[in-house]
Amino acid sequence: MDSIRIVGGAPLRGNVKISGAKNAALPILCSSLLANGEHVFRNVPDLRDIVTTTALLGQLGVEAKLTPSVVTLHTRTTDAREAPYDLVKQMRASVLVLGPLVARYGEARVSLPGGCAIGARPIDQHLKGLEAMGATITLEHGYVHAKVAAGRLRGAEVVLDIPTVTGTENLMCAAALAKGRTTLVNAAREPEVEELGRVLNKMGADVQGAGTDVITIDGVEGLHPVDHAIMADRIEAGTYMVAAAATGGDVLLEGVTLEHLEALTAKLRRAGVAIEREASGVRVSGTPPYRAVDVTTAPHPGFPTDMQAQLMVLMCLTRGQSVITETIFENRFMHVSELNRMGAQIEVHGRSATVHGVPSLEGASVMATDLRASASLVVAGLVAQGTTDVQRVYHLDRGYEHIEQKLAALGANIQRVKSNA
Ligand code: EPU
Repeated sequence: MDSIRIVGGAPLRGNVKISGAKNAALPILCSSLLANGEHVFRNVPDLRDIVTTTALLGQLGVEAKLTPSVVTLHTRTTDAREAPYDLVKQMRASVLVLGPLVARYGEARVSLPGGCAIGARPIDQHLKGLEAMGATITLEHGYVHAKVAAGRLRGAEVVLDIPTVTGTENLMCAAALAKGRTTLVNAAREPEVEELGRVLNKMGADVQGAGTDVITIDGVEGLHPVDHAIMADRIEAGTYMVAAAATGGDVLLEGVTLEHLEALTAKLRRAGVAIEREASGVRVSGTPPYRAVDVTTAPHPGFPTDMQAQLMVLMCLTRGQSVITETIFENRFMHVSELNRMGAQIEVHGRSATVHGVPSLEGASVMATDLRASASLVVAGLVAQGTTDVQRVYHLDRGYEHIEQKLAALGANIQRVKSNA
């Protein structure tokens, strides 16, 4: 298996273009099931999760063409209604076909995702919403079977117990073609949810309030295909911000939407990182050691769980002590033991990690079992003394477009080592 080898110590300098957002692209690609015809999606990142999604859509009668950054999807009516286990186990976001399939055909069979590296991650809220809209849900042989006896979902008020991101997205797609009005209360407010709302409206849907905690969707009789450019990836941007600061660098991020990153930039500024808006992007610079800050993850607009691991590396480079609390996922500290092997001093007590600043980190062979933990190990490798080998690179390939090329262009000493090399 490939690994990424980094010789740490080089401050990152230069410009980096932020790619399209993975977590916006995934629900948007799945929403193409809602309308027959040719959809064109631009600024789509070149990632393994995108390939997995197009493979899944392929099994559902959607013909996909992938060229650099453009995905063309030709949707036609088929009898296929199933997201099989072999694809769902590769990518939990496969569950995002559930809402569109039930909306379009009144039926779907989706393999239950099961637990994953960062937590149990049930989908009960997705199912509760579909039930309220008239679907009958049964669980059989590891699959969720949703069927609407009347053929078409009907609008309903759904109060979510948790503002689940993909749950909100599934229910928005389901409601787009339902009969009548659906109100989603305690909806997720993430920018990716707002982006899906924009795309659905471009398709002819009537979605109001996406990006707030109450979303109203008036169902329509039919939708049409769209041409849409995907928004920038705020988590990729945040990761480069932390990498720039951690290495004592000076990086201009191009194409980033700073409004999507307010919780992160507030913490970074408090820590002593300079973040300036410029005509062509956002400049991030600073020099360790930084001030220790405490962080608690929360649904948007709170501090994103997807940036927790990367920020922890920056907190290793302080002269103080920082407490990082993870409230979204129950098992999202897998990077801690690997960072400690690199010389960090971090203790985990339940949902909180206490990070004691250290003068430096040292290179080691490390690996992680999820995407953002892997990203944090890359950032740690960039600042560490000596060589770091980050194993299980396939996690990074799920979510960071051309990461080693982008970092090398910023001056990092980084290369992908092929397993047979
Ligand atoms: N939850 C339930 N029941 C549900 C749904 C969620 O209990 O029906 C719980 C989850 O177990 C979790 C919490 O609610 O503890 C929040 O989960 P959520 O459903 O919001 O997460 P998700 O939709 O599965 C998306 C992103 C994740 C990101 C989270 C939180 C996509 C494709 N994935 O996941 O991204 O961490 O929201 O912001 O949008 C990543 O990109 O690395 C990643 C994991």
